[in-house]
Amino acid sequence: MQLLILNGPNLNILGIREKEIYGHQSFDSFFENLSFKFPDIKLDFFQSNIEGEIINKLHEVGFSYDGIILNAAAYTHTSLAIADAVKAIKTPVIEVHISNIFARETIRHTSLIAPFCVGSISGFGLKSYELAVRSFL
Ligand code: DQA
Repeated sequence: MQLLILNGPNLNILGIREKEIYGHQSFDSFFENLSFKFPDIKLDFFQSNIEGEIINKLHEVGFSYDGIILNAAAYTHTSLAIADAVKAIKTPVIEVHISNIFARETIRHTSLIAPFCVGSISGFGLKSYELAVRSFL
């Protein structure tokens, strides 16, 4: 099984950014542990702060990988272009969020991407990603 974790803007500074919301751990150290937990899965990771690069990555892997775990971060709430890309590809996508977006500002309650995903996981901290991996299993 080959899965991609795809992270959007500002998720490269996890562990530094708003720790009370997103926690103290960097994504790199979390990802190392996660890969260790699932040795039978080929788990790839890509992060970009740039909308077009996220779309290019969805196109690149979205017809061959078994699953994509997408945290589009703020683009979740704004990007019709990423939503269109998720809709266009064949690989199933699970939307994840570290924080519970429904317990935050109203603007974060809307996901343009969710209707094209197999499901959404929100509010379990970095564990949200692990739950998504388990769901693909
Ligand atoms: C986030 C939630 C978004 O609203 C926010 O813009 C992020 C991170 C999360 O993982 O909780 O950058 O996607």
